[in-house]
Amino acid sequence: MTALATSLTPTHLHFLEALFPGDGLVTRPEEMAVYGADSSRRSAMPWAVVRPRTEEQIVELLRWAEAERVPLVPRLRGTGMSGGAVPAFGGVVVSTLWLNRVLDIDAEDFCAEVEPGVVTAEFQALTQKRRLFYPPDPASLKISTLGGNVATCAGGMRAVKYGVTRDYVLGVRAVLPGGKICDAGGRAHKNVVGLDLTRLFVGSCGTLGIFTKLTLKLLPLPESSATVLAAFGSLHDALEGARGVFRAGILPTALEFMDATACRGIAQIKDVPWPTAPNGDTRAVLLLKIDGSASALADELARLERALSQAGPSCLLKGLGPREEEPLWEIRRLVSPAAFQLGPDKLGEDIAVPRGSTVQAVEGFQALGAEHGVHVACYGHLGDGNIHVNIIYDAQDEGQRARAKACKEAVFRLTLSLGGTISGEHGTGITKAPYVSWQLSETERALMAGIKQVFDPSGILNPGKGWV
Ligand code: LAC
Ligand code: ZN
Repeated sequence: MTALATSLTPTHLHFLEALFPGDGLVTRPEEMAVYGADSSRRSAMPWAVVRPRTEEQIVELLRWAEAERVPLVPRLRGTGMSGGAVPAFGGVVVSTLWLNRVLDIDAEDFCAEVEPGVVTAEFQALTQKRRLFYPPDPASLKISTLGGNVATCAGGMRAVKYGVTRDYVLGVRAVLPGGKICDAGGRAHKNVVGLDLTRLFVGSCGTLGIFTKLTLKLLPLPESSATVLAAFGSLHDALEGARGVFRAGILPTALEFMDATACRGIAQIKDVPWPTAPNGDTRAVLLLKIDGSASALADELARLERALSQAGPSCLLKGLGPREEEPLWEIRRLVSPAAFQLGPDKLGEDIAVPRGSTVQAVEGFQALGAEHGVHVACYGHLGDGNIHVNIIYDAQDEGQRARAKACKEAVFRLTLSLGGTISGEHGTGITKAPYVSWQLSETERALMAGIKQVFDPSGILNPGKGWV
């Protein structure tokens, strides 16, 4: 295999200038820098950035990149948390943000066709106008894009009831290295002809092809919804409260939690509705959503309140309908950035464990924080066992840096010993790639390497990311 290029030659740059005229090509370092970073807070300078406006440009680009062995790093808004969009091993960044048309929203087929650069929340607003529903709601949804969500198989709050991005992708149109177009799947909601190439693209982090169109599944919009926030004086009571909800036979749309450290972080940037010192000591918060028909919702809400009350919350707040619910969810979406109130740096993990092991996992992570002398904030998607473990530290301090890394590794070991995964929703970009072999067997990795080889024989797409 010919080695990948290690920089762009003047001939390469002339080619890119011709294919991406005007502002389609960015080469000034001060403009490129932003395209080399993502929400992992890692960054690397791209060799160049191209901003295609058409699929034809992407076809030409991939034909050229394959022939010249130039690495390409696809990206959209860069809200990924594991460095999947960072060109850490060099290459040309390909931003498909300008491919941002909603091509179709169809209330008969219950599907939509979109380009990758459509912002998730804007798409959801359009579907809602037609009384349709696209459930995946990563915390970044106001700025992240459908293409990025599909590339990372983004999760979100509503996954407990509705599943994650993967469950809503019916088809993917992608340009492959060499310039061939693969149109996988389509508008049919069921399809078992051949292997599931659509699913392979979902979560592949730009390593198999560059998306130009996505076909997404829609649901009827639930008629009504309600949110309940319950604060507790102990972590144990909160975790028991969450178990009680499922034991009562309720399937919440979302079941989120925040531990005492996460609550403290958010209270530093926002007014919070739960008791704080000196009026009370909140050690954990649960935030739940339910949805359904208006008549069924009232009954479900009463059952939910009863189930939570048994765990002895110090306060129980209700929001009925989007206007009352949204401020509560806005608090939740800000937990990740708020963690920086507690320290200048963090390792933001997104492990997932089998749902029956959540209590053992959360209590174990807090004990590991204490053992390693670092702050650990646990919060997130408790309902599906997907916990954000934020290890907060000061990277300038060598001792803290080493302890934070040791704590992260202990968190991974505990997770795997419980039968969990080191990434439930953020993927294995540069921050997690070194640990993939802790979870995947040699056989699995060899199969994945074989698949990568079929799609991308020269290894030009997003090198160094993922699973091989
Ligand atoms: C969240 C992001 C970090 O759930 O996944 O807030
Ligand atoms: Zn999350």
